[in-house]
Order: sequence, then structure tokens, then C-alpha cells
Amino acid sequence: MKPILANKAAIEHAALLLRQGHLVAFPTETVYGLGADASNPEAIRKIFQAKGRPANHPLIVHISGIDSLNDWAINIPDAAKKLATHFWPGPLALILNKKTNVPLEVTGGQETVGLRMPDHHVALSLLKAFGGGIAAPSANRFCRISPTQAAHVEEELGDAVDLILDGGSCQVGVESTIIDLSGKQPKLLRLGHITQKDIEAVLQTELIIVSSQAEQTELRAPGMMAVHYAPTTCSIICPTDHLPAKIDELFFHNKKIGLLSHSKKQPENKLIRMISMPLQAPAYAQVLYSSLRELDSLNLDIIIIEKPPTLEAWQAINDRLKKATSTDLVM
Ligand code: TXA
Ligand code: MG
Repeated sequence: MKPILANKAAIEHAALLLRQGHLVAFPTETVYGLGADASNPEAIRKIFQAKGRPANHPLIVHISGIDSLNDWAINIPDAAKKLATHFWPGPLALILNKKTNVPLEVTGGQETVGLRMPDHHVALSLLKAFGGGIAAPSANRFCRISPTQAAHVEEELGDAVDLILDGGSCQVGVESTIIDLSGKQPKLLRLGHITQKDIEAVLQTELIIVSSQAEQTELRAPGMMAVHYAPTTCSIICPTDHLPAKIDELFFHNKKIGLLSHSKKQPENKLIRMISMPLQAPAYAQVLYSSLRELDSLNLDIIIIEKPPTLEAWQAINDRLKKATSTDLVM
């Protein structure tokens, strides 16, 4: 399936396909989503099939505005309205108690639903043309790197999708921050461009951080698993100081090495490919997945990732890199 330019006619056609129960991949500000009519269980099942994702992993429903919250959720706390008012449209997903009409296929069998209003003109035009909620996980195969360009969706899903809308490269580049507001206290389930501090500043309260899979079992969020967003090539994180020695050692053992580096002082002659990464966190995040994808396509023995700073702005990046380089096997 070749991506098509997301002009007005293409978006109208995509909305029609969604109404007919087909799958449409579309750009958001974070990553590309694999969309289906969120009120159509049959269409939702196609998402799980296309991704190879277990049916009990819930999907985020994309909506066109705060007013639509009531179509999907009940007992909506003030905190949800505050966060939505402040951050939507934007890279923030809210987990709320679901309305009875929300199919259990969307929520992975749970009584809660993930909702988000994306900040991308194509996604918003599609939502408007379609007129309902669009359930959309990232448009990659289960446990692979999320797509940030239309061509990545084509690589990942091939003909398993009925239409790919091309809206260029995603601005943010990592998946949305997820906040669970379905219980008594707000919980941070996934780090993203909007940071823990950003959320706490708006809510005027501390978030509970749910960072391990053990704490998360009943929520079944695949974004929490140790191995997720992973390249197939063995990948390691290496502190800047240790890079020269590590490269020497691997080169000595005839390893084909790729490097993701932001400090630019590396011995390039020992590398098959070095990608120079931006020094600012937002710009780094924007190109992170496409860079990993490029290195992953080069038949390397190893991908070395220079350890980024640990400041707040780099939290989501460090979280994704940890998952991309983890050696824990998760079934
Ligand atoms: O940025 C994003 O959120 C992108 C774009 C396409 O919007 N979507 C995305 O979807 O990353 P996905 O399915 O790859 O990740 C959604 C995460 C998963 O970890 C899922 O388990 C969690 O949200 N999630 C969805 N509904 C949930 C619920 N009711 N309870 C707990 N976690 C939920
Ligand atoms: Mg995903």
C-alpha cells in the first residue's frame, strides 16, 4: 500500500473507508496511527490482526475535542477537564472510566478508555470528516519501533492497511504522555513530550508513577513492557566517556557498528554509519525513531547509542531508549 498525499479528497476518502469498517493509517503530532471506527468492533479486530497485537491490550480513541469526552467517558473528574483544556490538542492521552457504549474490543476488556485529541491538521480534518472517534494505536507491528513517516507505515504494515495518509514527518516523534484518571489519584503510565512536572503544575498535585510492569499488570499497557519500541539489531546505551573504548573493542572483534551520537567526537572510520543527533531534546525525539529505523536496516552487528542527558526534558527519550535496548524478554 503506497501512501497518498493527505489532501482534502484523500481525507474524505479515508473518512468513507473508516465508515465502511476499513483501516486507515494517518499522521498525528506524535507518531502515525493505525485507525479504525472506534464504535465498530469488527473494524477494531482488524487493527489487532494487522499489528499482531494481543487482543487484551487497549487502544487510544482519538476525538475531535473536549466536548466529545462525554461520548466516551463517565464520572469525568475535574482533573481531566483541566488537563484537556490545558494540553489539547496535544500529545496527552487520558484514561477515564468508559461509557457502556464503548466496545470492550477497544478497551482490551477493561472498564476504562484512553482518549486523546491529536494536534495535527490531518488527524483533526479526518476526525471532522469522519464525525466519530477513531481508535488508533501506533501503526507499527507489535513491539516494533513506532512510525514517524508514512513510508515507515508502508514498511511495517504493507497491505494490511486500506489507506495510508501521508502528512510528512511527525513533529514530536515519541508517543503521547498517558495519565490515568480513572481512580482516586492521578497516575503517570507513559512518559512523553508533556513531562511529569508539566502535568503536576496544572493539577497542583503529585502524580503516582507507574513504571514497572508488575505494578501495571491489571492495566495491561504494552507501552509499559520492558521490551517495546525495539530495533531487531542488538542495541546498547554507552556513556560518552566510554564510547571510544567500546568502539575500539567492538571494531577489534570485527563487529559492524552503527552509532547514534550527539557529541560528534567519534572515530568514524571504525563505524559503518554514524548518525549525528540534535543536542536539544525535542529535536532529538523528533528524529529518534527514524534514526533507529535507519540503523536497523543496515545489517549491523550492533547499534551503540550515546547516553543522552538525564534532565527532565530527556525523560521520554531515555524511557524509549531503555526499552529499545533492554535484553529482558517479554512474551
Ligand atoms: O501518541 C500516541 O498515543 C499514539 C498516536 C497514534 O496517538 N498512539 C499510541 O497508541 O501510542 P498505542 O496503542 O501504541 O499505545 C497506547 C498505550 C498503550 O500502552 C495502551 O495499553 C495504553 O495506551 N492504553 C490505552 N487504553 C488504556 C487503558 N484503558 N488503560 C491503560 N492503558 C491504556
Ligand atoms: Mg505503540
